[in-house]
Amino acid sequence: MKKTIHIINGPNLNLIGTREPEMYGTVNLTKYLDELTVAYSSFEIFIYQSNSEGELVDYLQKIRHQVSGIIINPAAYTHTSIALRDALALQQCPIIEVHISAVSHRENFRQTNLIKDYSWSIIEAKGIEGYRIALDRMKEFLEADRN
Ligand code: DQA
Repeated sequence: MKKTIHIINGPNLNLIGTREPEMYGTVNLTKYLDELTVAYSSFEIFIYQSNSEGELVDYLQKIRHQVSGIIINPAAYTHTSIALRDALALQQCPIIEVHISAVSHRENFRQTNLIKDYSWSIIEAKGIEGYRIALDRMKEFLEADRN
């Protein structure tokens, strides 16, 4: 049976491609991620995006018993959401946190990261290519894991 990876994106990431292109680039993230699911077809990959904190928490609760790996860009909720942090604490699989921009070198208010304690790995400043890097890392981990 194929292992399952969920790629989860937080608020405003549905607009990557047109949103602040000087910061996040001009490539449509939704299309890019669809292409990745084809390239990594040895896994079952689900992509989910929501602008709502509660919906992200609901989604994380729902998948928690049926997921092999989570790749998440919590976007602005990285800096504010204890609820999202708590929903990530529930997970029993590796979590890779992705940020498109060099978030640790941006404004002071972005220096608070409430998620990172639960991130097995953090990828930032690689543009949307960061999602592919995360999938490679997750693939390597899951292929080495014989369960
Ligand atoms: C982001 C960085 C966050 O600070 C910001 O709120 C985002 C995107 C990134 O991918 O670089 O929406 O997570």
